Amino acid sequence: MKDKLFLKKSIPELLSSSMEGEHQLHRTLTSFNLVTLGIGAIIGAGLFSITGIAAANNAGPAVTISFVIAAIGCAFAGLCYAEFAAMIPIAGSAYTYSYATMGQFMAWIIGWDLVLEYAVGAATVAISWSRYLVKFLGNFGLYLPAHLTMSPFDSITTPEGAVITGIINIPAVFIVVVMSLLLIKGTQESATVNNIVVALKVSVVLVFIAFGWSYINTENYVPYIPENTGNFGEYGWSGVIRAAGIIFFAYIGFDAVSTAAQEAKNPQRDMPIGIMGSLAICTVLYVLFAHVMTGLANYTEFKGQDGIAPVAVAISHTPFLWLEQGVIIAILAGYASVILVMLLGQARVFFSMSRDGLIPPLFSEVHPKFKTPYKSSALFMLFVSLFAAFVPARVVGEMTSIGTLFAFVLVCIGILVLRKTNPEIPRPFKTPLVPLVPILGVLVCLAMMAALPGDTWLRLAIWMGIGLAIYFAYSIKHANSATKV
Ligand code: ALA
Repeated sequence: MKDKLFLKKSIPELLSSSMEGEHQLHRTLTSFNLVTLGIGAIIGAGLFSITGIAAANNAGPAVTISFVIAAIGCAFAGLCYAEFAAMIPIAGSAYTYSYATMGQFMAWIIGWDLVLEYAVGAATVAISWSRYLVKFLGNFGLYLPAHLTMSPFDSITTPEGAVITGIINIPAVFIVVVMSLLLIKGTQESATVNNIVVALKVSVVLVFIAFGWSYINTENYVPYIPENTGNFGEYGWSGVIRAAGIIFFAYIGFDAVSTAAQEAKNPQRDMPIGIMGSLAICTVLYVLFAHVMTGLANYTEFKGQDGIAPVAVAISHTPFLWLEQGVIIAILAGYASVILVMLLGQARVFFSMSRDGLIPPLFSEVHPKFKTPYKSSALFMLFVSLFAAFVPARVVGEMTSIGTLFAFVLVCIGILVLRKTNPEIPRPFKTPLVPLVPILGVLVCLAMMAALPGDTWLRLAIWMGIGLAIYFAYSIKHANSATKV
């Protein structure tokens, strides 16, 4: 059994299997497409919903520093992703990389962990989407019954003082179902639609920054790092680090560029540009956005608000109240594309795992007409809908962050391992300053994980425990033969 755990797929084997018949995807994406694909996947609920919450509860105005810390962790991990994505330009991303470097068992761990990033992440964005939809309709005097727009763990107090507790979040389920059906019908999100949505999102962020800048009240920056309350993570430096772990969510998505490696025209050159380019652009936008947001309103004004109110509170300090409606429209369209990319990433990873025999074949069964893994998408539609319907945003958001950080740690370690075990493989893009960059990537990501609340760790442990049980009960017995290298 020990032998099986460490079975690896050789890189030539991976590359040749990716060329087989129906699995050969068209190489059409340019570096520009990859950058916009990345931005399309990155800018979403993290920026518009979580920034205000993290400022209010953890970091105050210093949430800008949290964005920089999270970006540094992502940049180290992104450089490692870029080396892998250029070297093994096939779908499956971190799962495939770890099968090549650390063997079957670690590949399973990472593939299972990626469900937290993609499927649970999609649920998180869907919950946030639902809130914005409620707000959008409310602005036109249309009110959905509040108990049908929240999980049973959420409640709101009406202006009359009545407390309404949620039953199910129907709008969140709605958007998951619509996006899943789109995915079943055809996985190729048109590059043009993506470019339009990206332009919309980026414009809204730029307009917010430009219009808000002159209304900044610098008194709101004092103190920049509010004094720690005595509890870890509540302001002070521990708060800044915890906020980094929380708003890390906002950067998730640049790694989705690597899942499109098989469709890139010139993956060796363009993968690093796509990954690092989208990350760099988003970092600048995020820091400026957070700076303006916490400058317009005092962070204490964001307290006790749910995810959507902080941006509105900030806008209410400017004369441009119409901006709120613009932000909401961009968000409704923008979040939908984030959800689609995440569901697509999930489908690609489980497709690869299923083809390797680690999960049942139904996950790679392709629809006779649409040529998409429809059964897999239908099952994930159900799974993600359950989370979106019944779990609060904070819980799914933090599970997504910890799961993704864990994947990043493993990818960074993978670079170190592969440089030792297979130094001869051609690397069109090399992570600079190895071993320093991967080691720093591991450390920064681990620090952000460590700063996340304890219950999030417990949920990660339970999720991984379920994964181990499935691995030993099923996967290890059904895995296709792989070469030991
Ligand atoms: N980064 C994506 C978002 O913030 C997941 O919605």
